Order: sequence, then C-alpha cells, then structure tokens
Amino acid sequence: MTALTPVSDELATYPDAVALAALERVGVVLNDTWRLDSVLGVGAFAAVYSATHRKGTRAAIKMLHAEYECNEQLRGRLEREALVLSLIHHPGAVRLLARGTTEQGSEFLAMELLEGETLTSYLVRKDGCIGLDQALLITLLVLEAVAGAHEHGVVHRDVTVENVFITRTGQVKLIDFGTARLLGNLEQGAELGVGPVVGTPGFMAPEQAQGLNEQVGVQSDVWAVGAILFELLTGLPVHFAARTLFQKLTSSAFSDAPKLASIAPDASPKLQQLVDRALAYDKAERWRDACEMRGALLALFDVSPDRAGERTFATSFAPVAPPQVASSWLGSLRAAKTLQRACARVVGLVRALATAVAGLRSPTRRRVRARDRLLSNA
Ligand SMILES: Nc1ncnc2c1ncn2[C@@H]1O[C@H](COP(=O)(O)OP(=O)(O)O)[C@@H](O)[C@H]1O
Ligand SMILES: [Mg+2]
Repeated sequence: MTALTPVSDELATYPDAVALAALERVGVVLNDTWRLDSVLGVGAFAAVYSATHRKGTRAAIKMLHAEYECNEQLRGRLEREALVLSLIHHPGAVRLLARGTTEQGSEFLAMELLEGETLTSYLVRKDGCIGLDQALLITLLVLEAVAGAHEHGVVHRDVTVENVFITRTGQVKLIDFGTARLLGNLEQGAELGVGPVVGTPGFMAPEQAQGLNEQVGVQSDVWAVGAILFELLTGLPVHFAARTLFQKLTSSAFSDAPKLASIAPDASPKLQQLVDRALAYDKAERWRDACEMRGALLALFDVSPDRAGERTFATSFAPVAPPQVASSWLGSLRAAKTLQRACARVVGLVRALATAVAGLRSPTRRRVRARDRLLSNA
C-alpha cells in the first residue's frame, strides 16, 4: 500500500513466514475480549482477522505483524487509521468499533466486519469482465465514499482496487485508511513538504508519486478513482507497460496517463472526457474534487443527484425497486410511476452506453490489442 509497501502483485513474493506468523495468532484472545477467529488479509505490515467479542459481536481486527509491534512509525500509522476512522461518519467508509492495546503492548483496531470481497478479488472472479454499467456504478459509489472522506477532512491517499470492498449486500466501502492524511493538519509536519512516498504505484497521482506531499490533496484521490475506472473499463492498469515496482513508480511520477481512447477508441466522448480529466497529469486540469467528478458521472447515467444515495451496486439496475427500498418509495401511485420511469431511463441509458462501448467488454481482446500496440512501438 505504499512505496515502502509492495503493491498487490508483489504480495505473492512475501515470505510465507509472514502469513504463517499471522496464522499463528488465530485462536488468541486479546485482553480476554476479542477472540481472533481467522485471517482475512495479510499485508506487508499488518494482518486483518475476523474476531468475536466475548459478548458475541463480530468484528474485523487489524494488528501489526509481531515483528513490527514496536516499530513507532507503523504504530503511528495504525493510530492514524483509528483517528481518521473515528472522524469519518459515512456509509462508504468502514466503521471503527474500538481500538485497544493488548497486555503485551500491541495496538489493534476493531472495525465492522465486512462480508464480501475486495474489488481486486471481484474482478478476478469476473475474469476482469464486468460490463460498462457495473464499472460506472462501482466508480460512482467509490466517488461517494471518497467524497464522504473528503467532507470529513480526510484524503485517503491509497484508493486502489485492493482498498475498495464490495459487500454481499452490494455496498461499496473504502478500507485501509492507514496512510490517510488530515486536510490542513499542519501538526503532521513530518508528512508535509518533500517526504516519503505514500500510496500504491499505479494508483498514485504524479504529485504523490514524486513525494510532493504538500501538493497531495483531494485531487490526488480523484486521480486514483480515475485509475480505478480506467482499469474497470479497459481491463488494464493505467501504466500498463510498467512491470517492476520501480517502473510503476517512475511512470506514476513522470508519465502522462494514456488517453482512454487509445485503448478504448469506441468509448463515448463524454466517458473519455470523464476518465481523461480525472487522470490529467496537471492537477489544475483534473476534476476539482470527487463531487465534481461524481456530477459528471451522474450525467452519464442521467439520474438526479439526490437519488444517488439510494442506490447500491446490487440493486441500482434492477428494473423494479427491491422491497425495502420500495416500501419508502412506493408510498403512492405517483411515486411508483416516477420510479418506474426513472429506472427505465437508467436501464435504457446504460444499455445505450453499453452498446456504444461494446468493445470495452473484452479485457482479453483489449490486453491483446494493448500488447500488439506495445510490440509494434517497440
Ligand atoms: N473491515 C473489514 N472487514 C472484512 N475484511 C477486511 C476488513 N478490513 C480489511 N479486510 C481484509 O483485509 C485485507 C487487508 O486489509 P487492509 O486494511 O487493506 O490492510 P493492508 O494495509 O494490509 O492493505 C483487505 O484487503 C480485506 O480483504
Ligand atoms: Mg489494503
């Protein structure tokens, strides 16, 4: 999750010992309160466990690996994550339940236990082929989550496919706020100015990859959302030719993102503008913030902004509202008709868009095309 932290495809190279050490904690009871039931994820510095409170509540517990328990910088990161999560009250961000320190002095966070999978794993399961409607909707919900964090003064700085979680009920949640930054908080002086590079290469805006931390702000998260959308639409990461961590980092820092049309020439002009503007090298040319980008995305759907909060990934494109939504919406026949018309408009529009960019649906074909292009340029 940072330049100090290998990116997801490097996770496979982590020593098995790290995963094994994480597994060894399963069954341990923290402070006679939380029993660690199983490992949900193992990162470079921390592991996340599903856990049960002695009173029965379930949670996800994040703890540093044993070898890093005394590392002040990493302990600070976990503390930061707790602080930031306590500030954000938004359905698009994972909720903090508690924080604690074990008798041995290890810090831990207890978060709401999400059921579902990361966007990375969802994409793998779908073989990278999710269709335009889902790509746009996931992006819309990610933007709402990011905008929610920004509203609470938090820049995430590590918005990636790995840190977007899709729940079984179709919600989209941002996780992993360990490298988030509080806007305008000059007390974090060590983080400002030119400093350590924080984030995931490939999902870092140029200013972030260059370590220009004082320039990293809401528009850096906008770039990252653009990178997610680019990948959802094309099946390729923005800097797809970069293979090593170093190449990914230097491309993120110094290369323009490819125009969407260079990979997906059939994409509609509005969609191209949406993505290209999010991924502009120069901050001044990007969407001003997540809300502005969200507005542009909503215009593609032709849905009024005040309806956006009612949608989830699973239900938005259903022609009939699901029962729990219907009970509040269908209070009158008039409301029902309005709903039907709105749904038909959304479905129609999405179908039209999907047809217009049908070429975007085959990541395999796109990968072959991109590779051919690379080879012919070589
Ligand atoms: N609240 C949660 N509920 C369920 N699973 C979670 C939760 N938080 C994290 N995870 C799982 O643990 C993995 C690592 O968590 P994350 O916070 O991203 O840590 P890291 O810093 O190691 O990337 C995630 O990819 C996800 O699979
Ligand atoms: Mg993560």
